[in-house]
Amino acid sequence: MVAPAMNVRMWTHAATQANLATLRERGVHFVGPNEGDMACGEFGPGRMAEPDEIADAVSDFFEDSAPLSGRRALVTSGPTHEPIDPVRYIANRSSGRQGHAIAAALARRGALTTLVSGPTHLPDPAGVQTIHVETARDMLAACESALPADIAVCAAAVADWRVASQANEKLKKNGSSVPTLEMAENPDILATLSATANTRPGLVIGFGAETENVIAHAKAKRERKGCDWILANDVSPETGTFGGADNTIHLLSAAGVENWPTMSKVDVANRLAERITKHLGAAE
Ligand code: CTP
Repeated sequence: MVAPAMNVRMWTHAATQANLATLRERGVHFVGPNEGDMACGEFGPGRMAEPDEIADAVSDFFEDSAPLSGRRALVTSGPTHEPIDPVRYIANRSSGRQGHAIAAALARRGALTTLVSGPTHLPDPAGVQTIHVETARDMLAACESALPADIAVCAAAVADWRVASQANEKLKKNGSSVPTLEMAENPDILATLSATANTRPGLVIGFGAETENVIAHAKAKRERKGCDWILANDVSPETGTFGGADNTIHLLSAAGVENWPTMSKVDVANRLAERITKHLGAAE
C-alpha cells in the first residue's frame, strides 16, 4: 500500500501516471493523493492523504482482505487463434488486459482462481492458476476441466468461427487462384457454462462487446446466453476500448442496469470483484 505525496505537476505527468498504472496492475493499493494547497504554492492532486485516512485504509484492507476465500473462480481472457494452416491463423485485437485484471482482482480477494487465457503478451497474474490455450475449442475444454466453480467470468474475445478444415501443410500460391476458407461456428463458452447441468457456476458473468445500441443488444445477449450478468461495453474504434487501457461498463442483471463511469480496466476489475463479493455475501 502506498500513500503518494508530490507536486501536482509531478503527479499528473504522463510518466508518473504510466508507472502508477503498472503498480496498480501488480496489485499495489494507493491511498490518496488528495487535492488541495501544496507547500510549493500550487493547488491540485498531490497532497498526501491524512494520516487517519491512511490508517483506516490499512485497517480496512487487513480486516477483510480475503472475502472470497473458499470460493472458486474461473475467468477467460484474451483472443483465440484459429489456425488456417501450420503458419497462419485468424485472430482479433483483444489484449487480455480486462480478463487478466479480473482474475488478479478475484485472487487478491482470496478466490481460488483459474484463468484460461488465449495468446497474449501479458505475464500470468500472481496467485492465479493460468492455463494457456490457442483455440476456442481448447478454451472450452480447459474451462470445463476447471469446473466446479462458484463464479465464472467470460472476458475472452472468442472467435465466433474457425476454419472448417485446417490445412496440414502450408498453403502455397499456385499462380491462378486464391484459397477460399470455409468456416465453421465455434462453441459458445459463456452459453455452454451457463447451461451446464450439474456444475453450473452460481454466478455466470459475460461481456457484451457492442458497437451500437449497447444496452438493447446486451439485454438480448444476456437472455440468449443464459448468464446472470452482462458487462456491456462500447467497442467502437473511436472509444479505444478494444485493446486499450480504459473501459466504460454498463452492468445488466435481472435487477436492471448499472452505469459505471469510464475507468481503467484494473479499476473495472476491482469494482466487479467488489460487486461479486457483495452479491455472494447477500445470497448467503
Ligand atoms: N463468448 C464465448 N464464446 C464464444 C463467443 C463469445 O464465451 N464463442 C462470450 C464472450 O467471452 C463474452 C460474451 O460471450 O463474454 C459475448 O461476446 P461478444 O463477442 O460480445 O458476443 P458474440 O457472442 O460474439 O455475439 P455477437 O457477435 O452477435 O455480438
